[in-house]
Amino acid sequence: MADDIRFDGQVAIVTGAGGGLGRQHALELARRGAKVVVNDLGGSVDGSGGSSDAAKAVVAEIEAFGGQAIAHGASVTDDAGVADLVKTTIDTWGRIDILVANAGILRDKTLSKMELADFEAVMQVHVFGTFKPIKAVWDIMKAQNYGRIVVTTSSSGMYGNFGQSNYGAAKMAVLGLMNTLKLEGAKNNVKINAISPVAATRMTEGLMPPEILAKLNPEYVTPGVVYLVSEDAPTGAILTAGAGVFALARIFETEGVYLGEGGLSAEEVRDSWEKITAEPGQQAYFNGGEQGQKFFRKLAGG
Ligand code: NAI
Repeated sequence: MADDIRFDGQVAIVTGAGGGLGRQHALELARRGAKVVVNDLGGSVDGSGGSSDAAKAVVAEIEAFGGQAIAHGASVTDDAGVADLVKTTIDTWGRIDILVANAGILRDKTLSKMELADFEAVMQVHVFGTFKPIKAVWDIMKAQNYGRIVVTTSSSGMYGNFGQSNYGAAKMAVLGLMNTLKLEGAKNNVKINAISPVAATRMTEGLMPPEILAKLNPEYVTPGVVYLVSEDAPTGAILTAGAGVFALARIFETEGVYLGEGGLSAEEVRDSWEKITAEPGQQAYFNGGEQGQKFFRKLAGG
């Protein structure tokens, strides 16, 4: 078909692509013609240990169907490793069109039991491990007036999940990063979106019953990622994907109420709660300034 999504001539980096979702993303991008850098530290689910075997195995799979790929074992949290990941990509193929920031770990504990180290490790991999590769490819993408980036968020961040305060905080942080970068990249055709997956991987294997996991093949998430890194991608979208279902997540703000300037009180806020939270007229904003315009419209009686 003439309008198949293809990536011939394009170069993609997929972090954490030695297994799970990242492996599927890497395989599918390569099937569609991209040259793929398969990055994976090869550690355990809590981030300990490491070996580049996982990434190499995925490269072998890609080469087996005639695709092009190289493995890179850098940790996404390591400055020198990320710099080398990007340098190796440029030295090998001369450009970087796509970055899928997918690497992740879990250190689930309720807050009472959580050590600072558990919070920091998860923030490091998901937040800094998303920021650092993006920062390293950003000016390359801007200079070539083309770039597609996907960050990986989670319902645990957007909506909450018991025992995941570290992970939830980190997964919302990547959305904050995306919300600003969609604005900063627009002029140079650098688009950035988020995927919020649900899939049966080693990360979720103990968390859901087998009959549910059986419906959650990670392959069912990948078409969403492939679209989000394609030429026609939107920007600033949060695509939720799992079990073959795709939906858009958005933050809505209610129209709210103007309570005046003089003599404002907590009691007035309490007594206006129904109006403050009323859903008719609620909106999702594309940037913070749009919210500010609403405040001044209401102040002016609009
Ligand atoms: P996974 O554990 O199979 O894959 C994560 C990969 O990231 C592993 O291969 C691991 O070696 C790699 N990795 C970890 N730390 C790294 C580092 N510092 N540098 C380089 N690579 C590193 O788990 P899964 O499920 O495939 O997760 C992929 C992404 O999707 C993660 O960001 C995860 O938080 C996210 N996610 C997954 C969900 C699911 O239902 N499986 C739900 C919501 C989000």
